[in-house]
Amino acid sequence: MKFNEHIAVATNKVLLVPYDARHVPRYHEWMEDATIREATASERLALDEEYANQVEWREAADKLTFILCEPLTPASGGGGGVGGDGDGDAVVAGEADEPRRMVGDVNMFLTPWEGDGDDEGLDGSGSGKAHCCMAEIDIMIADPRHRGKGLGRAAVAALLSFFCRNREGVLAEYGGADGYTSNTGSGKSTLVVKDLVAKISAGNTGSIALFKSLGFEQRGGVNYFGEIQMVLEGVGEERDEAPWVAVVKDAGYKELRYDRSRLREE
Ligand SMILES: CC(C)(COP(=O)(O)OP(=O)(O)OC[C@H]1O[C@@H](n2cnc3c(N)ncnc32)[C@H](O)[C@@H]1OP(=O)(O)O)[C@@H](O)C(=O)NCCC(=O)NCCS
Repeated sequence: MKFNEHIAVATNKVLLVPYDARHVPRYHEWMEDATIREATASERLALDEEYANQVEWREAADKLTFILCEPLTPASGGGGGVGGDGDGDAVVAGEADEPRRMVGDVNMFLTPWEGDGDDEGLDGSGSGKAHCCMAEIDIMIADPRHRGKGLGRAAVAALLSFFCRNREGVLAEYGGADGYTSNTGSGKSTLVVKDLVAKISAGNTGSIALFKSLGFEQRGGVNYFGEIQMVLEGVGEERDEAPWVAVVKDAGYKELRYDRSRLREE
């Protein structure tokens, strides 16, 4: 997706940056680990395939992808950091997200709604104007040494907040590709996100605990692929009582410009 191409999200716990070609070698190293591939239901790719994948993820209107990094410090190319001011409106690409600072990724994939067939993906209002889609979230903290420190939870909460704050833009890009944008010239999407889900291997207790702690609840049983679905109700509403909103409040949240101007080559 192009929408987040120039946006970084800084919290006190993690930094989210758009997935660039510079990140691919480290990402590829992570994905050489069979345990990680199994946990994330990923296939093994050659390095050149991983580069092609990064390009595809940027171009595809249904994939919102971020690389997770250690949080900003004044020394790591993050200006004023999360609580900062002054010129702290940008994250310096190549510094804040150098390979040693990368810890994983967090993504949202938008898909057509797998409804029950009654309303063919319409929003149920009877208006027949809004079409529904689903948003699936996945998360990886690649290095085991970084796990169990609240980074996964902070990253998913930050992604949810990003989506809530930027829903119009994200859905306009996705819906544009599918033709679901208003023909009144407003550019607004007519899409509604009906379900926000995480599909998790039934034995992945860590991931299940993480999503539960953010307010996701299991829907249905274990499917053919050995996965369960955890679903978050009330998508797109940053209600105070939602557990994930408390996480965002605790960790802070700031959107910053992702500044590639100091890179020698992209
Ligand atoms: C699953 C994963 C994302 C968890 O991230 P993390 O940063 O280690 O998790 P957090 O520290 O944010 O923990 C969040 C909550 O989940 C719980 N949790 C995390 N890992 C756990 C584990 N292995 N067993 C039990 N609970 C666990 C934590 O206790 C915490 O809840 P609490 O604060 O109420 O105790 C991480 O282990 C990972 O990336 N694993 C490999 C890839 C993977 O499985 N991805 C998920 C695919 S669906």
